[in-house]
Amino acid sequence: MIYLDNAATSFPKPESVYQALDRFARTELANPGRAGHKMALAAERALDDCRHLLNQFFHGEGPERFVFTLNCTDALNMAMKGVLAEGDHVITTDLEHNSVSRPLRAMELAGRISLTRLKADAGGTIDPDAVRKAITPRTRLIAQTHASNVLGTVQPIADIGTIAREHDLLFLVDAAQTAGVIPIDVQTLHIDLLAFPGHKSLMGPTGTGALYVGPRAKVGAWREGGTGGDSSSETQPREFPHFLEGGTPNVLGVAGLGAGIRYVMEEEIEKIHRHEAELAERLWRRLDEIGGYEVFGHRDMARRVGTLSFRSEALPAAELGGILDQAFDIAVRPGLHCAPYIHRSIGTFPDGAVRVSPGAFNTKDDIDHLARALAEIGA
Ligand SMILES: Cc1ncc(COP(=O)(O)O)c(C=O)c1O
Repeated sequence: MIYLDNAATSFPKPESVYQALDRFARTELANPGRAGHKMALAAERALDDCRHLLNQFFHGEGPERFVFTLNCTDALNMAMKGVLAEGDHVITTDLEHNSVSRPLRAMELAGRISLTRLKADAGGTIDPDAVRKAITPRTRLIAQTHASNVLGTVQPIADIGTIAREHDLLFLVDAAQTAGVIPIDVQTLHIDLLAFPGHKSLMGPTGTGALYVGPRAKVGAWREGGTGGDSSSETQPREFPHFLEGGTPNVLGVAGLGAGIRYVMEEEIEKIHRHEAELAERLWRRLDEIGGYEVFGHRDMARRVGTLSFRSEALPAAELGGILDQAFDIAVRPGLHCAPYIHRSIGTFPDGAVRVSPGAFNTKDDIDHLARALAEIGA
């Protein structure tokens, strides 16, 4: 199988991640606890190590500010539902994944918040000036993705972060498609809340993710329960990260995530990004040569991640994806990619498009195989 669905989750993982998972599962997979036995302390150490790595990687204001979650969706829900109050206004975009747009739309329908959904331009980029113009006296939060999971276009979050700070708004960035491929410094970018999965470009296993909570964001309790310490307190201890982390964490997954982040740091994030963007550009060139395929989004590869979506003039996306899987053993992602608004904007709703997302381990050969298959299907 040629796997080109890394925007959904990365595969394969680096060898060091498999080794870390195996070693941890065999020797230290206890329930973490700050006052426990040796194995419990070792498990607690795995969580701490990973938090320190994340703090270094994203230049956070303290490792305790990284709260482990199930995935990026969990982190986004924790952030939005944790900071928004009755009557707040939120600015968001039509590039968002359902994990941002559904919770916001549900709060809007319940009459709790009001919402402005900005449209990306024809190339798939949000204009920071449009964000500035959408601000009202009630605006509390800007919630947006760092890169579109459909178009692969990277958003001008430095400018939008500056606008958010100038207007004393909270800035939530969904880094599902960028954490591990585009450098993110939460302090210089004025990001108050950064939600990201561990299982995509950070190379951890599924079931991992985190929310960074900066000092300006006052987040409400998420789920209350055991915290591996402070058991005498009648209510959830306020200290981070335990305030937001009730229950047994996915310590095995976090041990793997730590190895994944180390891999990205050693390989160098810029190199990984360049590799993936070059593979996307290679595919784009091949599609131009073959003809009959329309690729979406602008073509400035420096402002893109490796994700590329296109449609065929001849076949619906689902059929094309099915043929690639069944007849050519190539895994791509047809459909709406949990991002219906942008598919409406680019005119691919409801059939969707075919999304190809190369990862760190894909090769030019993989892309050439895919291109040959697309040429054959199109012929
Ligand atoms: C932009 C974006 N946001 C959020 C998510 C949700 O991530 P997860 O599956 O880790 O919950 C995805 C997943 O593909 C995504 O692409």
